[in-house]
Amino acid sequence: MNLPLFWPSAAIQNAHKVYVMHFKLQPGGALTGEARVPGDKSISHRAIMLGALAEGTTRVNGFLEGEDALATLAAFRAMGVTIEGPVNGSVTVHGVGLHGLKAPVTALDLGNAGTGMRLLCGLMAGQAFDTELTGDASLCGRPMGRVIEPLTRMGAKIQSAEGGRPPLSICGGQQLQGIHYDLPMASAQVKSCCLLAGLYSEGRTSVTEPAPTRDHTERMLRGFGYPVESNGSEISLQGGGSLRACDIEVPADISSATFFLVGASIAPGSDLLLQHVGINPTRIGVINILQLMGADITLQNEREVGGEPVADIRVRYAPLHGIEIPVDQVPLAIDEFPAIFIAAACAQGRTVLHGAEELRVKESDRIAAMAEGLSTLGVSNEVLDDGIVIEGGDLGGGVIATYNDHRIAMSFAIAALRASGEITVRDCDHVATSFPGFDDLARRLGLQITAVAG
Ligand code: S3P
Repeated sequence: MNLPLFWPSAAIQNAHKVYVMHFKLQPGGALTGEARVPGDKSISHRAIMLGALAEGTTRVNGFLEGEDALATLAAFRAMGVTIEGPVNGSVTVHGVGLHGLKAPVTALDLGNAGTGMRLLCGLMAGQAFDTELTGDASLCGRPMGRVIEPLTRMGAKIQSAEGGRPPLSICGGQQLQGIHYDLPMASAQVKSCCLLAGLYSEGRTSVTEPAPTRDHTERMLRGFGYPVESNGSEISLQGGGSLRACDIEVPADISSATFFLVGASIAPGSDLLLQHVGINPTRIGVINILQLMGADITLQNEREVGGEPVADIRVRYAPLHGIEIPVDQVPLAIDEFPAIFIAAACAQGRTVLHGAEELRVKESDRIAAMAEGLSTLGVSNEVLDDGIVIEGGDLGGGVIATYNDHRIAMSFAIAALRASGEITVRDCDHVATSFPGFDDLARRLGLQITAVAG
């Protein structure tokens, strides 16, 4: 049988994974026009979770129809929650209340999603029934000890595979007790896991963060009428309340917008308007860092939608220079570093990142994966335990390994705007976890990208 070489990406995504998708990129070009990138992944996960546990019907608009958020949606359907959609980003969740979930018949498969697994772990620890949580090969390699530890202190019974890895078996019917937990690392997933378990706990649950992290869980709980106190770095709630259904408008994901913020910043002639992007202060590290590097980024039409700040972002080409990335920006830009490394590669001078060891336990070891790809393109870099040093310069072409990490794939796709040769980015199927339609949108805005089956 002759395999078609060039397929539209949607067809490839629907091909039951028989073929692997790669991106082929011709060098050069500029990004121009207007676009709204898909909905925020973190907020989409939480909208399904809290909508399912609320009393009443929650309507969600702008929901991310990516594999990660769809895995969370499927998990709640498997626990007896009626969910309509998604249709063009609209989802209707018929909440069953905090104690209305039913035991799933099989293991809940969270796919590639660390957020899905870690937040669900907190919720499942408080249920009357047993659950098993599993995921794909990448997720099953990621550390869950960071959530098992505080949940065990709260009285949960959780078994894992070796080294605290998934699959996880959570034994239901435990009465959890509220605790205070000093987070050992800046992690919104661990914070959220503790707070969600706190909904099912006797007494008060509080956490202290070593540095601010995304606060979507706190904001959304309040939106559902559940009191959450924030006092400096401490966040707390009282168990035993209830959630009231509400409507949720999911902003466009700043983490997905990042590829175009960087792409337009590095490609001469670029001028882009990205609409309706979430600019929650706990997520805008990428804007702060790119501006420190000299990027021309302005926020327009700032407004608040459903408890989350939103803006249209204009970005135009500007020559960038290397910087020492301020450590306090690291948790605020944690998912954006692969793309920021491309900006650093195109900047004049040296960029230094420290305090980012968390990058090593994302969907891939993002420091190692980016360093390897940058070296392939001829960009000199030095790997550090907790970061990287990148010397800006000329980018060549080459074949890039993504380690099945969506953000590594999209970052090297954008690099083609400044490369001198063709770039092939291998194994790009996982782009669909967070940014379905990335290649089609990027092509419309000016990236010379083709999805290739092989
Ligand atoms: C997320 C928190 C972050 C981030 C992830 C989404 C969330 O993870 O990297 O993509 O939705 O809470 P950590 O909490 O592990 O830093």
